[in-house]
Amino acid sequence: MTKDVTILGLESSCDDTAAAVLRGRDILSSVVADQTDLHAAFGGVVPEIAARAHAEKLDLCVEQALERANLILPDIDAIAVTAGPGLIGGVLSGVMLAKGLSVATGKPLIGVNHLAGHALTPRLTDGIAYPYLILLVSGGHCQFLRVEGPTTFKRLGSTIDDAPGEAFDKTARLLGLSQPGGPSVEQRAKDGDETRFNFPRPLLDRPGCDLSFSGLKTALLRQRDTLISAQGGLSNQDVCDLCAGFQAAVRDVLAEKSRRALAESPDVQVFAVAGGVAANAALRRGLETVSDDHGVGFVAPPLQLCTDNAAIIAYAGGEKLRVDGPDDVSLIARPRWPLDLQAPALIGSGRKGAKA
Ligand code: KG4
Ligand code: ZN
Repeated sequence: MTKDVTILGLESSCDDTAAAVLRGRDILSSVVADQTDLHAAFGGVVPEIAARAHAEKLDLCVEQALERANLILPDIDAIAVTAGPGLIGGVLSGVMLAKGLSVATGKPLIGVNHLAGHALTPRLTDGIAYPYLILLVSGGHCQFLRVEGPTTFKRLGSTIDDAPGEAFDKTARLLGLSQPGGPSVEQRAKDGDETRFNFPRPLLDRPGCDLSFSGLKTALLRQRDTLISAQGGLSNQDVCDLCAGFQAAVRDVLAEKSRRALAESPDVQVFAVAGGVAANAALRRGLETVSDDHGVGFVAPPLQLCTDNAAIIAYAGGEKLRVDGPDDVSLIARPRWPLDLQAPALIGSGRKGAKA
């Protein structure tokens, strides 16, 4: 794809409805309508509510994205849409709209893997070369990927249960803090003593790069209940110390597994991180230190491009178009779509949909 190609991107795989217009690596517009309020009462994303909201909001987002880019539909060269993995109702909404737009305008249609959108973000933001290593770390995902080309990924390891964002959210819920849990836990952890409580470092005793986070939540629940039965409640300092201990455990596990993933990929020059959890300054610092120790560059894209948005989908669409050409109207919406077809299937489905 040459620099001047203009791509309309659509994203609706989870709880953000998004449209964006990208020209080369320039983001001309990026509109994200989040659904946090719609799901707030349910403690997680409700697929039916999400799907309906996407169907209602998508064309509005497209209109806004075009308007903000100062373009009209005929100015667009191609239409990229998340075709999976994700909550199927939402993915279907996006794919159907993209097909309609493609048929109506005669512009090429590109079905994009949502995870490829995240994995290719460091190329959009920093123009880094293949191959590189990336840690995707969000409310739905946690995996190390060696990115070798626009559609060539090797998974070096992944979570065997919860994603770290889920663990942060559950921790916040157990401690009565607000959602999303990551920022609340990070805030409290700043005033906490990470050494006061003993948190496990799951899977560090096993070789390889797989991770596990569900045990941390159980450890936190136990420490919390011990305190409550001993003192009748939790002080503010208890909450801060629990947050600090939990966050330090996540930091250490991510750092050690990153060390191993880098050791398995000695030819990469860059280690990147993407996903909502990458917003956490303590975790970022841990990963940056690992990169420095290995003598590789560290890239953490700006937060608005780390979380779900359609600019990264448009970018991944352009990259895919360049190597694989366009899709056609037989494009299907896929609830599961692993990036690395050689890697064993990921088990389970999180609060935000399938893991891959
Ligand atoms: O990538 P994202 O916006 O959405 C998906 O998961 O698709 O990630 C959201 C997750 C939530 O679980 C949230 O608690 C977590 O990222 N998060 C954080 C922080 N900010 C957001 N986790 C830890 N520390 C943070 N500062
Ligand atoms: Zn995502």
